Amino acid sequence: MLPTWWLLALLAAHASGKKRWDVPTSQAEQHSTGKLQWEPQCQYHLRHLQDSTRISALLPPRLEGHWISTGCEVRPGPEFLTRSYLFYSNRLFKAYQFYYRDPFCRDPSYSLVIKGKLRLRQASWITRGATEADYHLHKVGIVFHSQRAMQEIAARVNQTSGGGCKGFLPPGRSWAPGALYELLSAKTERDCTAALGFAMHELSLVRVEKHYQPLLQPQQAGSRVVEELYLGDIHTEWSERLHYRPTGYQRPMQSAMHHVHPCPACGIIYRSDEHRPPVLPARAELPVQLSGRWVSTQCEVRPAVLFLTRYFIFHGSNRSWEGYYYHYSDPLCRQPTFTIYASGHYTKGIPSAKVRGGTDLAFKVTHARVTPMDQVTVAMLNSSAPGSCGEAGSWSAGLEQDITPTNGCLALGIKLPHVEYELFKTEQDVKDRSLLFIGERPTDGSSPDRPDKRPTSYQAPLIQCAGASGTFARYISPNYVGKEETNQSKVLKPLPVALVLFIALQFVIWD
Ligand SMILES: *[C@@H]1O[C@H](CO)[C@@H](O)[C@H](O)[C@H]1NC(C)=O
Ligand SMILES: *[C@@H]1O[C@H](CO)[C@@H](O)[C@H](O)[C@H]1NC(C)=O
Ligand SMILES: *[C@@H]1O[C@H](CO)[C@@H](O)[C@H](O)[C@H]1NC(C)=O
Ligand SMILES: *[C@@H]1O[C@H](CO)[C@@H](O)[C@H](O)[C@H]1NC(C)=O
Repeated sequence: MLPTWWLLALLAAHASGKKRWDVPTSQAEQHSTGKLQWEPQCQYHLRHLQDSTRISALLPPRLEGHWISTGCEVRPGPEFLTRSYLFYSNRLFKAYQFYYRDPFCRDPSYSLVIKGKLRLRQASWITRGATEADYHLHKVGIVFHSQRAMQEIAARVNQTSGGGCKGFLPPGRSWAPGALYELLSAKTERDCTAALGFAMHELSLVRVEKHYQPLLQPQQAGSRVVEELYLGDIHTEWSERLHYRPTGYQRPMQSAMHHVHPCPACGIIYRSDEHRPPVLPARAELPVQLSGRWVSTQCEVRPAVLFLTRYFIFHGSNRSWEGYYYHYSDPLCRQPTFTIYASGHYTKGIPSAKVRGGTDLAFKVTHARVTPMDQVTVAMLNSSAPGSCGEAGSWSAGLEQDITPTNGCLALGIKLPHVEYELFKTEQDVKDRSLLFIGERPTDGSSPDRPDKRPTSYQAPLIQCAGASGTFARYISPNYVGKEETNQSKVLKPLPVALVLFIALQFVIWD
């Protein structure tokens, strides 16, 4: 069941809001948003996200060209993969999906070559800013990169597909490097892709964004264009993914011609094909180091029309957390609808048995406050049944209310106290900034309130904007997160050994 906010968000998405919400700047404004202490870097970062001059969406999207993953991606399951998609001007496409055993995308198991045709249709009514498309698959071929991968897939196809697929691999055939087997052919009407949980529904929802990345070299003025291709999301429930029509997005691909710099993975993926799958550069496996403050790196979209940015504070000393969820009705996060503040405690992390490289945690939400930001939300909250969401009849725009005494807010689908079973991972990006990946929310809009609903993939990463004690903050200068005027003397240097040691120690202490 979708909570009421789904409908609310849909209404809000189609009502026009004019007010622009601003990150609080003055002491007085800080006061009005409760006890939130804004770190300048965090504040700068969220402001930057709302800066419309840097991001524009191309409508209708121009897909022609070569699009690539910028790193190792994780899909529900988990599946680890990289992608390289080519769209031609005659609407034909050729897409490579490279699958791996490991979360670093260094140990390829098999590759898919997908050919077909794509036709853009119309602006999506459900997901604002997206374009709907129809696609038709002509062929899907598979190349195995080891004997083991071949056996595993053969067994899956054998188990789950009808008689027509039994012979897709000749029985007793041993692995031949480079041999391509046909999983799907429109001509012979054979389709053995279901056993792999394979569908290309991601192509039915597309969005292209242009960003301007400032140049970091001295003497270089201006910025570099980065183009991102957002394709539809994959359902978190394996049994649903073959039928699910996306309403959200996956991690975006970038144009091979206009991607962020530096991007060590980009060139490798760009040059790959089914016979030479990309093997990404080795990277250190980092323990999850939560302490500090983290913010969204983009306006995020949740399946079914919810746009938001997030801001979290984790206190490692007492394992407590605070989170701010800023909701919007538009894909550039400029028309606020409501803000949720939530807080509580979290458990010590343990390595995930299911998702290599991930850490399992449980989050308890004990307190929450809500600030409606537009009239649609005010009206909805104001008319909720007495005792079900704060003080009925007393809601007004911009005023925060504690919903802890009413055990949450029925209309927004918030129940208190509440436990969520989470999956986290941290990474350093190529500029040595810390990224935090929090588990993907169940696509059906429910909450991961049982261990068996724990996520197996991740949402868009948050970036650390301040450390536990401010130690890291100086490593993230506004210049670095994107300001026109750049000055190399302020550009980040790689973390010194002492700091790496410090991080390692922090982890030990945090436990
Ligand atoms: C497929 O399944 C049949 C029994 O259902 C079995 O005899 C055969 O060996 C299997 N083939 C493969 C390649 O696993
Ligand atoms: C946990 O510690 C931080 C300071 O490290 C403090 O600001 C916060 O209020 C504490 N939270 C709880 C629930 O004790
Ligand atoms: C909220 O409800 C109260 C009581 O029903 C009403 O007096 C008030 O005008 C409403 N406020 C808004 C903004 O709708
Ligand atoms: C860069 O910064 C240094 C010191 O902060 C300053 O002396 C220099 O003029 C700056 N250069 C530019 C191009 O802004």
